[in-house]
Amino acid sequence: MKKYVILISGRGSNMQALIDARLPGVCSAVISNRPAAAGLAWAAGRGVPTCVVDHQAFASRDDFDTALAAEIERRGADLVLLAGFMRVLTEPFVRRFEGRLVNIHPSLLPAFPGLHTHEAALQTGVRVHGCTVHFVTPALDCGPIIVQAAVPVLASDTADTLATRVLAQEHHVYPQAARGILEGCCRLEAGRVVWTSDTTPAEAVLRVPAEE
Ligand code: GRF
Repeated sequence: MKKYVILISGRGSNMQALIDARLPGVCSAVISNRPAAAGLAWAAGRGVPTCVVDHQAFASRDDFDTALAAEIERRGADLVLLAGFMRVLTEPFVRRFEGRLVNIHPSLLPAFPGLHTHEAALQTGVRVHGCTVHFVTPALDCGPIIVQAAVPVLASDTADTLATRVLAQEHHVYPQAARGILEGCCRLEAGRVVWTSDTTPAEAVLRVPAEE
């Protein structure tokens, strides 16, 4: 059985969706860079091993990333899933886990990288917004795209209502992407995402939910 770890910094709703999806693998740890992350208690309650690598305990970004990488490797992880992990990772870290380091971002990349994506979507006036699961590369929020889900932007939307609608889709597509990788149906090849065509549900590339 393949092993995966989930990295969080906060409430961990994507982590919950991943664990509840009963992926074909073992979650060998939920790791947080913040001791107070609410998701840690939820994971522990499910019997998933948890640990904290507190970024504040390290003098430099490099030192933190080295300790984090060591913890991930100690857990025997084949796959590293960033789920609301609010730290920019250094290039050596990203290279070390290339092809097995995945993130979820709350926008339809390449639109709106970085923070405050829902505010930016409203400000820009896009009619379609969403989320993206992608392999992580050294450039922030730029890696090869695995799955996206789109939602309409409504005239009545606030950043909060839009975030809620996007988050519901995050909880669908992140487990789909993780399942694809763990089953060997999805991989990174020469910088591009390859899905094995006969095993890929159309929905696993772009999910456009009907009015919900
Ligand atoms: C999600 O919107 C995710 O896309 C972003 O941070 C948020 C984390 O939420 N990277 P949660 O901790 O998974 O609930």
